[in-house]
Amino acid sequence: MVERDFTIRPIREGDFPQVRAIYELGLETGHASYETTGPTWEQFSTSKIMDTVLVAAEKEDPDFILGWVSAAPISTRQVFHGVVEDSIYIHPQGQGRGVGGSLLSTLIELCESRGMWAIHSWIFPENEGSAKLHASRGFQKVGTMHQMARMTYGELAGEWRDCDLWERLLATPE
Ligand SMILES: CC(C)(COP(=O)(O)OP(=O)(O)OC[C@H]1O[C@@H](n2cnc3c(N)ncnc32)[C@H](O)[C@@H]1OP(=O)(O)O)[C@@H](O)C(=O)NCCC(=O)NCCS
Repeated sequence: MVERDFTIRPIREGDFPQVRAIYELGLETGHASYETTGPTWEQFSTSKIMDTVLVAAEKEDPDFILGWVSAAPISTRQVFHGVVEDSIYIHPQGQGRGVGGSLLSTLIELCESRGMWAIHSWIFPENEGSAKLHASRGFQKVGTMHQMARMTYGELAGEWRDCDLWERLLATPE
């Protein structure tokens, strides 16, 4: 068994200020999302499938959130209800410690156990860390979508940016 110095648990509303701050630290890289600011709790909790939102907390300091992962629906069409999109953000102090890998593996198991059959991930081609993380958990890059949106900040500010689409197939439900 792998000894870990963090624990994974479902999100609680009181975690949200840290969850939002970790998201905004990710945005500051300029290679995590087109978004410019974090959501409100209302926006977050209505856009995610809340029972898939997990946080990793420091084992020695359980109030310190190291990172989070979530799944959200890819479509409002009922026929696609088993296909979700992931988001994953790790605090700079938590990166490189296996937190992202553990959260993503846990999300995959959770989604499969809930009868979902695919997870999509949108990753900027420049985000090598996220691509490596997803590849390490069995995601495959299926293609590149072009000029999805104009980036408004960071080193690619002003450029119409491409985004890679990755997928992780899960067992199909009975
Ligand atoms: C990308 C990110 C989620 C990775 O999380 P992490 O906790 O540092 O990743 P881990 O330590 O669990 O590493 C998981 C795997 O990915 C690889 N990896 C992670 N970051 C990497 C990097 N920058 N370069 C190369 N490989 C990397 C690791 O080698 C590891 O592979 P392994 O399990 O086969 O050994 C994290 O850097 C982050 O939050 N970045 C900012 C926000 C962001 O870009 N989110 C994704 C938006 S699509």
